[in-house]
Amino acid sequence: MEFTNKVAVVTGGAQGIGFAIARKLAENGAATVIVDINEEKARDAASKLREAGFKSDYKSLDVSDFKEVLAKFKEILDKFGHIDILINNAGITKDALLMRMGEDDWDKVLDINLKSVFNCSKAVVRPMMRNGGVIVNVASIIGQIGNAGQANYAASKGGIISFTKTLAKEVASKNVRINAVAPGFIKTAMTDKLTEDVKNKMLEAIPLKRLGNPEDVADLVCFLCSSTSAYITGQVIRVDGGMVM
Ligand code: NAI
Repeated sequence: MEFTNKVAVVTGGAQGIGFAIARKLAENGAATVIVDINEEKARDAASKLREAGFKSDYKSLDVSDFKEVLAKFKEILDKFGHIDILINNAGITKDALLMRMGEDDWDKVLDINLKSVFNCSKAVVRPMMRNGGVIVNVASIIGQIGNAGQANYAASKGGIISFTKTLAKEVASKNVRINAVAPGFIKTAMTDKLTEDVKNKMLEAIPLKRLGNPEDVADLVCFLCSSTSAYITGQVIRVDGGMVM
């Protein structure tokens, strides 16, 4: 299998898109470490994967905390010996028009969505530069096209895209690839909280006429982690049912 003997860390892997990615990587042979702030869900997610016959562990961790990330990633490296794949997936929304957006809502979203990508990439980049590796960042089409009410979220995802392109240039010669995926409207807890009215409007804007499933994103992420994409780095690939063309 493609990822046999590889160790993959998936942030925000306890549910939704992150869990679908962890499961798909596991199905293809990777040992997975689920990293999530929700300890109970992270533990359950790792148990589910182990019950299905895969090697999986978890770490409860706030990815926005630099020192905690370095310490816990060191524990992962000490236990597994290497991290070959990092999926920066953890993310939140705190939507409001800028006029009503508080400083806290700005800081929290930027810290969890963007600073986390710096933190976790920093924790793995040195060992990856010795042994090779792959990073995939979960951005969003909102980081490319903007969305009223999501200045914080759009800025964080746009930042992820520029970060991806920059780090790709810095590490390409060391056999480390880094790409981003930009999902559209995917059915998870994050979108379940939207009103029916908003969801119906979104549906109208999707040429493929359905919401995405977490697995639609996971398939693309697995491709970007695999040797089939060996000549792809620094790219942002949309998985959005054709919403943005
Ligand atoms: P979700 O809300 O179902 O899952 C997010 C996970 O991140 C949760 O398990 C949560 O506990 C974890 N998390 C939150 N804060 C954390 C922190 N500080 N440290 C560690 N873990 C933390 O969301 P979903 O939909 O699965 O989203 C995953 C990623 O995909 C996010 O980055 C999101 O922005 C992105 N995305 C989602 C889209 C959608 O339509 N659902 C569309 C485009 C991008």
